[in-house]
Amino acid sequence: MKKLWGGRFSDGADAFAESFGASIHFDHILAPFDIEGSIAHATMLGEVGILTTGESSQIVDGLRRVKARWERGELEFRISDEDIHMNIERYLTEEIGPVAGKLHTARSRNDQVATDLHLFIRTQILLALEGISALQVALVGLAEGNKNAILPGYTHLQRAQPVLFAHHLLAYVSMLQRDSERFRDLWKRVNVLPLGAGALAGTTFPINRERVAELLKFDGVYENSMDAVSDRDFALEYLNCCAMDMMHLSRLGEEVVLWSTGEFGFVELSDKFSTGSSIMPQKKNADFAELIRGKTGRVYGGLTALYTTLKGLPLAYNKDMQEDKECVFDATDTVLGSLTVAAPMIATLTINADAMRAHASRGFTNATDAADYLAKKGLPFREAHEVVGKLVRHCVEKRTDLDSLSLDSFKSFSSLFDDDIFDAIALETVVNRRTTRGGTGLSAVEDQLKRMQEKLSETAEWTELHRRMIAPSC
Ligand code: ARG
Repeated sequence: MKKLWGGRFSDGADAFAESFGASIHFDHILAPFDIEGSIAHATMLGEVGILTTGESSQIVDGLRRVKARWERGELEFRISDEDIHMNIERYLTEEIGPVAGKLHTARSRNDQVATDLHLFIRTQILLALEGISALQVALVGLAEGNKNAILPGYTHLQRAQPVLFAHHLLAYVSMLQRDSERFRDLWKRVNVLPLGAGALAGTTFPINRERVAELLKFDGVYENSMDAVSDRDFALEYLNCCAMDMMHLSRLGEEVVLWSTGEFGFVELSDKFSTGSSIMPQKKNADFAELIRGKTGRVYGGLTALYTTLKGLPLAYNKDMQEDKECVFDATDTVLGSLTVAAPMIATLTINADAMRAHASRGFTNATDAADYLAKKGLPFREAHEVVGKLVRHCVEKRTDLDSLSLDSFKSFSSLFDDDIFDAIALETVVNRRTTRGGTGLSAVEDQLKRMQEKLSETAEWTELHRRMIAPSC
């Protein structure tokens, strides 16, 4: 099969090398973006007179027909055409004949592929924002539905202080909020047009890059043509956004796995989001939470892979850069898939508030409050800590807990104890007195919920606005 670049060559490609070098088996995903970019390029070429209006509209119509065929699943891509750009051009030629050859005027695959990837990532940012918001909504829903449930908060996975279950969930909502803001911030650096850089040096044709940017809804153009075709920072940043989000999801996944064990028994997964064992009839496994946790690794892998690929690459385009796509595509599928499964998995969790409470009230989770009690009565906190430490040791030896001690026992450790100690260390008091901003007290958690709802609606507006903004007009 004759190559689109075949003029200089007298011999055909080695079959294995040809397929080794091809990217069509993964970059076919870029088809709609490639066509969108080409339509804008051809439109501009017509407007500035590099192509006649007739030629330009013939190409644009042809590209639209190719797009329609692609949408109907009629396009078969060929390895011999190497990548999506040349496959599309081949189909365009099939549609409109030799005038298709004019599309590549003042353009190279180097600025073309960079443009496609910008367009692709831009769309994925919006999908990620929607996926993150859906999970945030599920977490907020679970928090609101179980506002009074108290579970042990842990440090070092040892019971530390009791917290509202809602508070624990809202920690994830905050983490996800940062992910969402990170993706949004990336928009600035993704929404810049590389097209017009040519192979690396710009072009001798009097193109209008700003017009292409306008047609494609980019906020600006790359200032330097060599940077435009060599830059993959935006892809790395995107992978980092994905990696960080997966890290958060993996922590949530881990907690769901732990909480749904017989040992914890805090939650039960819905049958829809758990699996059985082929040998042990009693099993109900948190496979999907585990898988989210597990899949985090491949996203980190993609980030590391692309960093490594780009390290030390001389300017400008090098074929190494073709390796960017699989990392980006795989991370995209993984993040969107994980978010899609996590949201309903969380929304359908059943809570065992009694088990949470039982665990929260054991393990001396109110010891800090007993020390705070003494400190509030004037004892330096260090000394208060020492007194309560001794009390705890006493309780451990007697196999009891602080709440079950008599006032006399308390007094034998410090004369500052009075009968209001029992209220001070009661579970509800311990939680609800923490009313400082960001604390676990119900009123503080309700404030948090309110602020989070505002942020969620703000993100939804932003996403909708940008979705409408980038909807292709041509
Ligand atoms: N498939 C290539 C890639 O993904 C497109 C750019 C090819 N450019 C070139 N000069 N060979 O990077």
